[in-house]
Amino acid sequence: MANFDEIRPRELKQALYELDGISRASVEAHYKLYQGYVNKRNEILGKLEAVDLTAANQVYSELRALKVDLSFAIGGIKNHELYFEHLGGSGGDPGGSIGGLIRRDFGSTEAWRTDLKATGIAGRGWAWTAYDWDERRLFNYVGDAQNSFPIWNATPLVALDVYEHAYFLDYQTDRAAYIDAFLANLDWDVVNGWVEAYRIPL
Ligand SMILES: [Fe+2]
Repeated sequence: MANFDEIRPRELKQALYELDGISRASVEAHYKLYQGYVNKRNEILGKLEAVDLTAANQVYSELRALKVDLSFAIGGIKNHELYFEHLGGSGGDPGGSIGGLIRRDFGSTEAWRTDLKATGIAGRGWAWTAYDWDERRLFNYVGDAQNSFPIWNATPLVALDVYEHAYFLDYQTDRAAYIDAFLANLDWDVVNGWVEAYRIPL
């Protein structure tokens, strides 16, 4: 098994403690879950170094269990690093490159927002606006867990966490109100930075 480097949780930006409509207590509890994904990723990769590859079995084996749950841990890391990174802004209509992409691929900002909100209501864990490099367009994808259902060769640009842990403290079961708060705290400058960094064609 290949060697691996342990990773550490990214620090939360100060702005995450001062969101509008998503409380500091909620963010702090959420960050602890993220730290847990990082710790489990490190633990699982450590265990994989010693796993018996000859005992691999699709019904049950240590290798299978570790690799399935590794996908949950890694998904949890990637999803939450996006989520925390692009909050702390003032929301509103997206400008710049992402604004143009959204208007091109959804028809209007409002159509994108309506579709993302509905996708977030339809999901059990996540809704992502991602750029599919094969179809060369944005789409709002649904996720039920940290490791379902990512699309190969697509780059997520908006990551909406709809697990109850993201909003129950502030909104109880009113997920739609939480989604509105999420949208109102999006930092479009961060998203535009990703569009540029990944060289997504406009
Ligand atoms: Fe979460």
